[in-house]
Amino acid sequence: MSRDDLLTKNAEIVKMYALEIKEHAPDAIVVVVSNPLDVMTYVVHKYTGFPRERILGMAGILDAARMAHFIYEKLGYGAGQIRATVMGGHGDTMVPLPKFTTVAGVPIDDLLDSEEIGEIVKKTRNGGAQIVNLLGDGSAYYAPAKSTAVIVDAILKDTKQIHSCAMMLDGEYGYDSIVSGVPVTIGAGGGEQIIEMTLKQLQKTRFKNSVASVKEMVDILYANGFFDDLK
Ligand code: 2OP
Repeated sequence: MSRDDLLTKNAEIVKMYALEIKEHAPDAIVVVVSNPLDVMTYVVHKYTGFPRERILGMAGILDAARMAHFIYEKLGYGAGQIRATVMGGHGDTMVPLPKFTTVAGVPIDDLLDSEEIGEIVKKTRNGGAQIVNLLGDGSAYYAPAKSTAVIVDAILKDTKQIHSCAMMLDGEYGYDSIVSGVPVTIGAGGGEQIIEMTLKQLQKTRFKNSVASVKEMVDILYANGFFDDLK
């Protein structure tokens, strides 16, 4: 199954958990790790009614880690010094941002040519599917677990580090009432402050497409009456 095929099945499961969390852990900070990630984060918003700071979707950290790995694989140096950035939804339209990616502060376009960077972007988008195919069954878990631990650690230690997480947008980047992956400071309050980067036109267009594909899935749930019990 692709991430998006999981839509209806997982929405039901996530709704059930969201309602339980609301009842039994009303002060919780929720880290969502189910696919399609951005839509499931949206579902948690709707059914917990928690303030948006307390609901984070884990994806950008995972996607950025994969991107950093593919860069290292290509370069053969710089391990631990690669800072990759990925925004947007956790799906085929995710937005790896090579222009915001560096190795020890050196922009990657000074180290790799555009064809090589294009290949890395493609591999990053396919990283989850690659693991699923290799496993033959089930889903990736080591890297998603590590990425989730990064979020939990930042919350528990109130680090206020910036990571890319799926957040409900409220005007940021020109969107609201939709979830997408954006850089956000993480601390004791959850996803505390969304950071708005200045995007170039092409990056804006890719982000727009990514938001649109999440919205499309949310709209399918609305059309199927999934949210009717909220009325
Ligand atoms: C991942 O990217 C499949 O979404 C899952 O590992």
